[in-house]
Amino acid sequence: MNRRQFLRDSALASASVVLAGATRFAVHAESTPTDSRIEVLLDEPLGTISANIYGHFAENLSGVLYDGVWVGTGSKVPNVDGLRKDLIDQMRKIKAPVVRYPGGCFADSYDWQDGIGSPDQRPRRTNFWAGETSAKSPASQHYDPNQVGTNEFVHFCRLIGAEPYLAANVRSLPPEAFYRWVEYCNSPAHSTTLADMRAKAGYADPFHVRFWGVGNESWGCGGDFTPQEYAVEFRRYSSWLPSYGGEHLSLVASGPSDDEWNWTRDFFEEIVRKGTGQIERIYGLALHHYAWNLSRGRTQDWVAGKGDALQFEAIDWYELLRQGDQMEALVNGHWQVMEEFDHDHHVKLVVDEWGPWYRPGSEATPGDLLEQTPTLRDAVFSAMTLDIFNRHPEKIAMANCAQLINCLNSLYLAHEDRFVVTPVGYVFEMYAPHQGSQAVRTIFSSPSVHYDRDGTPASFWGLKGSASVRNKDLMLTVVNPHVSDARETEIVVRGAAAESGNITTLTHSDIRAHNTFQQRQVVVPRSKALDVKGRVMVLRLPPASMTAVQIHLV
Ligand code: AHR
Repeated sequence: MNRRQFLRDSALASASVVLAGATRFAVHAESTPTDSRIEVLLDEPLGTISANIYGHFAENLSGVLYDGVWVGTGSKVPNVDGLRKDLIDQMRKIKAPVVRYPGGCFADSYDWQDGIGSPDQRPRRTNFWAGETSAKSPASQHYDPNQVGTNEFVHFCRLIGAEPYLAANVRSLPPEAFYRWVEYCNSPAHSTTLADMRAKAGYADPFHVRFWGVGNESWGCGGDFTPQEYAVEFRRYSSWLPSYGGEHLSLVASGPSDDEWNWTRDFFEEIVRKGTGQIERIYGLALHHYAWNLSRGRTQDWVAGKGDALQFEAIDWYELLRQGDQMEALVNGHWQVMEEFDHDHHVKLVVDEWGPWYRPGSEATPGDLLEQTPTLRDAVFSAMTLDIFNRHPEKIAMANCAQLINCLNSLYLAHEDRFVVTPVGYVFEMYAPHQGSQAVRTIFSSPSVHYDRDGTPASFWGLKGSASVRNKDLMLTVVNPHVSDARETEIVVRGAAAESGNITTLTHSDIRAHNTFQQRQVVVPRSKALDVKGRVMVLRLPPASMTAVQIHLV
């Protein structure tokens, strides 16, 4: 079974710091031998890192919305207007920039009109994922109670300070439903009947929703289109949408999975059949990449190839990272194909689903479909992925980790009054200072990791990361993927001198370490000040770690 079949079936079932030039300094011991070196080139900017690459994804699936985001207005669980307070507090802390909703595959079965109006009048509908749930799954996962609709979701976004990114239904609703949804969200107070309905719900002012997905995975659960067919639909759905006061809508076209270069090529080829001007309607092309096959080449079967989230060996650690590391080649590859048609790169990449995907079994809440418990491995994976995004600021406009809470690569797990930040959540916290900063070229030199892959020697890079600067603040993030070797690393910053700094590390002696409702502080970041002034120092990057070094420059 492949992922397309799986989704179709679901549908059917329902530092040392050394400064260049005159000044050189390093961090740590005077005579520690180093084996690695990181060189930050402040004079070689790569572009501004879009804050939105630190985005999230909250599908109406499993315990993501119900139990995760929404606990209900009458709940004893601390909430703000029915929305889980712990989640709001955490997402403010990580400066969550954007949240994608309501799917995923769910989006192409969803009628936004079911989710507006008085909550007690809203219909219950069979959830797209109902066929995948188990007897342990709560009713809300089979039958969507529609208590979270556009109003509640946009309110959630406002509370956390994020922009909403709504995915429109292309498989099962006409273009009219799409433009009416835009009208509901964005038409000025008192201007339209839909604006009046919005006002009746307590939202007189428009939501100003800018980001809209035109379908989701249109090659699979989103309609089983060919790229040419989808391009025709994209043109139709985008040929008229209301805009108010000159507000521009940023439309994201459903894009390829993994290395489906032909989806990208054929989609663009069909789009420009009506003229290259058509490209201007597209803000971003979605790219989805999940790391799921831990079979070491034994199978491509979507079910049999999966590994376990918690029970794994060092080899599974490296295999997962290798799959995640493909993201860089995917970004470069699709970008190159896009250039064949979009020479000026008007269209950017929107990686609106990414993360590891394991077999069932590690759910913090039994019955939660697709829920898995993230470990240190997933934190390293996530850090590595965010570093890839940071290194390609000119290409990637947005990215959304799949998914926010109680699902795949979740930042948080929650059930009733229990809530825990996963190691992935801490990565987003550590990496937040990169948002909106200027990425600068950084060179990582380190011995590679070597391991045995069923009798065949295999290797993986030794250190990688990214660096960015905002005013006088340098942010450097580095992943050491080696499960047992620390890296003694000299960090060279070319182009400025350092005044002060601090270092935050996320690691654990057990690569399987994770946080649970009972033990919430097993994998947590540790910070300390760095005395960078005038001393020669070297940073030790522990095995299986990610490190954020912040340096104030003069
Ligand atoms: O994130 C889970 C599912 O994975 C999404 O609904 C779908 O878009 C993808 O295949």
